[in-house]
Amino acid sequence: MSVASLDLDPQSILRLQPGAVRLLDQTRLPGEVVHRTLTHWQDVVDAIRGMVVRGAPAIGIAGAMGVALAAQTTPNELPEAIRALRAARPTAVNLAWAVDAQARLVGTHPGPGLAEALAEGARQIHADEVARCKAIGRHGATLITRGARILTHCNAGALATGGYGTALGIVRAAFEIDPTLRVLVDETRPLMQGSRLTAWELAQAGIGHTVIADNMAAAMMAAGRVSHVVVGADRIAANGDVVNKIGTYGVAVLARAHDIPVIVAAPTSTVDLATPTGTATPIEERDPVEVRDVSLFGRRAFAADSPVANPAFDVTPAWMVSAIITENGVHRAPYDRSLCQV
Ligand code: MRU
Repeated sequence: MSVASLDLDPQSILRLQPGAVRLLDQTRLPGEVVHRTLTHWQDVVDAIRGMVVRGAPAIGIAGAMGVALAAQTTPNELPEAIRALRAARPTAVNLAWAVDAQARLVGTHPGPGLAEALAEGARQIHADEVARCKAIGRHGATLITRGARILTHCNAGALATGGYGTALGIVRAAFEIDPTLRVLVDETRPLMQGSRLTAWELAQAGIGHTVIADNMAAAMMAAGRVSHVVVGADRIAANGDVVNKIGTYGVAVLARAHDIPVIVAAPTSTVDLATPTGTATPIEERDPVEVRDVSLFGRRAFAADSPVANPAFDVTPAWMVSAIITENGVHRAPYDRSLCQV
């Protein structure tokens, strides 16, 4: 498959336009750059569920744009739109956070100015998230040593955040200082956000990288080929537990066994002080077809009748996390104290 190219500026990833939300379709990458123009809030709900837009900050921004779209096009459906957008995916707290911020504007802007206030609210959330990512990049880069070999899981880049990225924001900022750094990209079964999206973003940015199957991380660490693990998060609980893409916990266990620092990058919109521990987070269970849909050598490679589990996220306990980077700086354990400063 050929690989498409695109300047990953924030507006090319998500944009609110009059009467529509325009999204870069992440299900079509890396082969094709296709934008979807959605004219009803229900289409935005479906796009979030279907991973057309994905990644914690990006689904928050899309949710906020969906609320603004409903106010423009179907104002009578606004309460229903807010409920459905908020519930489109349960784990990343950014979605509820952004939709709630919009819902508060509904309360304070009754009448004719509401649609414009919500449009401005969505644009502001987008701009703020990108600015937070850039600050995360600056803080996080201070932890990356020269010649680093950074392993990352899933995609926590520009695509996942509406621009720049959290984990990949740190990679981008560190690469500016040291262009010899390299990234080891977990493919991230079952939806391949690593091999499809992270590898694509790194190629666009000219950052050296190597894709590995998820089960190769241990051997790479044992061989001394990983100096840092840097990942994003979908929710960070008050005690510092990190909920992120399924497989992150396994990577953290391996990193601890090899004495490799585990660095988690996320904006404060991902920190949820109302969730006491990671295990209190609802973990999305997705369609088994995502696990079953494997072909190899031109043939289906899955026993069709076998039962399948497909939890989309896991919990990495706070004690395994070396540092949490937000836009406010580098947070260290004990996180129940250091995160209160967010
Ligand atoms: O299911 P996805 O692709 O939305 O999951 C995304 C992740 O787990 C990311 O690591 C996380 O949202 C951080 S994005 C900056």
